[in-house]
Amino acid sequence: MGASLPPSPAFIVAALLLAMINSLWVFPEVAAAAAAKNAGITRHYKFDIRLKNMTRLCNTKSMITVNGKFPGPRIVAREGDRLVVKVVNLVPNNITIHWHGIRQLRSGWFDGPAYITQCPIQTGQSYVYNFTIVGQRGTLFWHAHISWLRATVYGPLIILPMQNASYPFAKPYKEVPITFGEWWNADPEAVINQSLRTGAGPNVSDAYTINGLPGPLYNCSQKDTFRLKVKPGKTYLLRLINAALNDELFFSIANHSLTIVEADAVYVKPFETNVLVITPGQTTNVLLKTKTFLPNASFFMLARPYATGMGTFDNSTVAGILQYEKPSNSSSITASKRRPLLRPTLPPLNATSLVMNFTRKFRSLATAKFPANVPQTVQKRFFFTVGLGTNPCPKNQTCQGPNNSSKFAASVNNVSFILPTTALLQAHFFGRSNGVYTADFPSSPLQQFNYTGTPPNNTVVTNGTKVVVLSYNTSVEVVMQDTSILGAESHPLHLHGFNFFVVGQGFGNFNPNKDPANFNLVDPVERNTFGVPSGGWVAIRFLADNPGVWLMHCHFDVHLSWGLRMAWVVQDGKLPNQKLPPPPADYPKC
Ligand code: C2O
Repeated sequence: MGASLPPSPAFIVAALLLAMINSLWVFPEVAAAAAAKNAGITRHYKFDIRLKNMTRLCNTKSMITVNGKFPGPRIVAREGDRLVVKVVNLVPNNITIHWHGIRQLRSGWFDGPAYITQCPIQTGQSYVYNFTIVGQRGTLFWHAHISWLRATVYGPLIILPMQNASYPFAKPYKEVPITFGEWWNADPEAVINQSLRTGAGPNVSDAYTINGLPGPLYNCSQKDTFRLKVKPGKTYLLRLINAALNDELFFSIANHSLTIVEADAVYVKPFETNVLVITPGQTTNVLLKTKTFLPNASFFMLARPYATGMGTFDNSTVAGILQYEKPSNSSSITASKRRPLLRPTLPPLNATSLVMNFTRKFRSLATAKFPANVPQTVQKRFFFTVGLGTNPCPKNQTCQGPNNSSKFAASVNNVSFILPTTALLQAHFFGRSNGVYTADFPSSPLQQFNYTGTPPNNTVVTNGTKVVVLSYNTSVEVVMQDTSILGAESHPLHLHGFNFFVVGQGFGNFNPNKDPANFNLVDPVERNTFGVPSGGWVAIRFLADNPGVWLMHCHFDVHLSWGLRMAWVVQDGKLPNQKLPPPPADYPKC
């Protein structure tokens, strides 16, 4: 066709057709772009694990940090985003990072617990964690998941709603993470290693911290105080995280009540409280409404333990200060320091019934937009005892555990979990479980006894690497029963890979004939961590819709180290999107 000739009518028709065909091609792209907008973006982070000198309580030490920060850096993402975090290990210790509460749908290689989903990242090595946040929004956190490195390696993981989504409550004026942790003058690794060697209970932390700061009730710590500066007449969203190793905490702010709106990155029916309790591994969002007019006082925000065990614990109090700022147009400068500092009253250390009443108030929203998809029927039922026990003292050794002749241990159904030397997930995926784990974890205790009554004389546990194998999409119910062996105690049980619904709880021994009638199958709270009541039980349900190997354990690191953990192996489903893809090329080797 000559370039100078006008286009023939046939050409115009052809061009129009082409344009139409083109637009058909274009259309799916537009749709995909729209979907991508909803599906979120990829956010890159780099975590250099390195030593850093830190000083608290007038005590300077070199400790393991992420990027030299304590607490570690804040991760902020939106629901639907992909997180890509390159973790580079520049310390002598092996390390892994766990994204606590992230469901890791078909991305179990990036969950993080050492020897469960991966071998640790060795010195000089790196691993890129790469996962998408699906169907979750709220506050979670990340932490090291090997030995006790979590003591200094943790930070907030904040998931904002999707771009055009809003909170199911009025938009707060500001959002502030409040992360509870500890300060250890000693090296926490030395503390747990000594405990494991001698069999005795470990030494305790020297202080609790809010965002890494112990506050004025400790030696030398006046300047290391977290101050929450607020304006009158506003609503603040506090994102509370308990990253402490071994202590559930009460928290209260003088003269202010808090409205709980979310737990473990799931919205709840809002309720008001003056005091809350938060277990290690739990996160919760609360609204703080500030006073309408500038008050003539500042307010302590205090946290100290809720403790039920028989062992020693860090019986100290962390304090932050809620202080009102004058409106910027006000001219008079009255030093805020001169205002009186009011103190909240915290419950007694062992206020177990208060804790039960508090935890019973949590309810799912259970709306069309945020439904509570509680399994209404159960395909597999489990009854797990959780608690302490002993291992005999090895020959030619002296032990400082119970009766000075044994070692402390902890177990689920009297099985104290031994970590393998390779990752369970790898063994499962490549069909090489032989010699790594056995699939015979008991679904109920092999020996029954009065779990919360006078404990049996024989407290010796068995040791093994046992799992429960579940086929894809099994609906599961687990009753977790505290035991009084070596003392009844609350155990904050955490499940990886899933949220579960807390359908019931009570004191004493679970009664399978009576208690299920009172289960809440309508709007039970959905979480990833829940305290088994001291001297009581809790019933949870979840749907095993995530193929992989998922650890369930007490989030007290001391009990975790003593073996209070087990694992679920969830098999692939039949459809391609129900299968776990293979591991990435940089997956760490043992
Ligand atoms: Cu927050 Cu298995 O841990």
